[in-house]
Amino acid sequence: MNSRRDFLRSAAAGTAGFAITQVFRPSFSTRAADSRIEILLNEPIGTIAPEIYSHFVEHLGGVVYDGIWVGENSKIPNVGGLRKALVEALAKTKPGAIRWPGGCFADQYDWRDGTGPRARRPKRTNFWVDAPEWPKQARRDGPQVYDTNEFGTVEFARFCKLSGGQPYFAANLRSLPAQEFWRWVEYCNAPAGTATAAAQRAADGERDPLGVRFWGVGNESWGCGGNFEPEDYAIEYRRYSAWVPGYGRQLSLVGSGPNGGNLEWTRGFFKKAAPGGVLSRMWGWALHHYSWNVSNGRTSDWFQAKGDGLKFDTEKYYELLLHSNQMEKLVTDHWAVMAESDPRHRVKLVVDEWGAWHAPGTEPFPEALLGQANTMRDAVLAGLSLDIFNRHADKVAMANVAQLVNCLQSLFFAHEDKFCVTPTYHVFDMYAAHQGGKSLRTQFTAPDVPYASKGTSAKLPGLAGSASVNGKQLTLTVTNPSIDQARECEIVVRDAAVQSASALTLAASDVHAHNSFETPQAVQPTAQTVQAGSGAVTYTFAPASVTKLTITLA
Ligand code: AHR
Repeated sequence: MNSRRDFLRSAAAGTAGFAITQVFRPSFSTRAADSRIEILLNEPIGTIAPEIYSHFVEHLGGVVYDGIWVGENSKIPNVGGLRKALVEALAKTKPGAIRWPGGCFADQYDWRDGTGPRARRPKRTNFWVDAPEWPKQARRDGPQVYDTNEFGTVEFARFCKLSGGQPYFAANLRSLPAQEFWRWVEYCNAPAGTATAAAQRAADGERDPLGVRFWGVGNESWGCGGNFEPEDYAIEYRRYSAWVPGYGRQLSLVGSGPNGGNLEWTRGFFKKAAPGGVLSRMWGWALHHYSWNVSNGRTSDWFQAKGDGLKFDTEKYYELLLHSNQMEKLVTDHWAVMAESDPRHRVKLVVDEWGAWHAPGTEPFPEALLGQANTMRDAVLAGLSLDIFNRHADKVAMANVAQLVNCLQSLFFAHEDKFCVTPTYHVFDMYAAHQGGKSLRTQFTAPDVPYASKGTSAKLPGLAGSASVNGKQLTLTVTNPSIDQARECEIVVRDAAVQSASALTLAASDVHAHNSFETPQAVQPTAQTVQAGSGAVTYTFAPASVTKLTITLA
């Protein structure tokens, strides 16, 4: 630790190391450089899986119908019924995988309902029909409540193909037998001209196998997916995962992992599953963690503890970020418990659902159940979370932000002919450069952000981030969570010379800033000029900002 600090000091004095000098000077007042970031080029952590930049699409409110699927005969520009603007904007961010059809919806979904001629598909009552969060003004007779099944497996697979994400199916373990799981795999992956299911797929418009690799075996099996005990779920998992044919595709099966910090769920499952060899049939273990409690210790009630997506004070701003920042401990804690039964870590972590979950009231339109505003606070949360996943690239194989459009921490709002991207979208766009890069160990030194939480003092890191290298290109992403302090920072790349650097910053003068149909570009990243040199090294990170520095190594 000390030698790194000494090195930084000598680097700043111009005797060693290389640095980046930011030319741009922001208008807000800054402190003298009180922060440092050291990037250790020779200390790789692992490759950043593109699947860390994955998404989640559930038949919930306005996610599928209106959000993604507008229908082939719609006046809204579409590609085979899929909203064109969304497909194109999503493709730009290089999505890793896209998880569908749920969520809780998955464990009541019959995949066969979404096959055959669209006009003849059955209408089914949606899982979310009785959710207490439905806005009073919402129409309750549309596809958000009585699913027309127009958007089925083939439509979803096309959506994936067009946007560039790999399909990730969540299979129904609560209310369909195991046979239906492998029949769905057969429908997707069996070669043309073989099984009846493959013929059905061809009749639905896809002659060639879809080659689906990722399959979730249930969802939240401790809750809406069946209220199982971990040991009982292990028995179910064994049955569902046994002898599933892959049709030449190595299937990557994902087990329904814990709710946040429930280590006993992880321990119970792994203990039961390991001796029977079941873990050899598991690629990923899915953790779900939402950030929702902004009550500052006053309550842990699921409804009472949430806050408004738009109206929040400084305390609630920090409380939400603090809740999201627990992710790091969740990753390392579950990883350690998994090692008790799987010491060689053949099973990786999948953060199947993550994001902010605010109280109802800021839906982009009434049918968008669980839709919520997305401000700069949410963008900072996204930056903090993605950086955690990058820093744990050796453990986290996939992460799916919840959910893609019109719901929870969305990248998009879309309703009828209106469409816009959110600040979270911009974070994904900026961070895409990390995909496939080698995650590097970094050392951040910055004064913590202190604030009072639950009657005691809490703190967030002054600066947080991650770095990766791909050939000569080094990407450093940094979040400054402080609501009012800019951070002037020295940045040093150890063991390499810097040729040039550029910066892209997402920030606003007010953390409540957000995009809407009326003001779609209120929040967007701005390019900043950066000079690379071996002299003084500073970059000023604006308050409540997310920044990407792209550094070309000599
Ligand atoms: O994303 C909304 C819901 O949150 C999902 O359906 C469920 O898996 C989780 O509880």
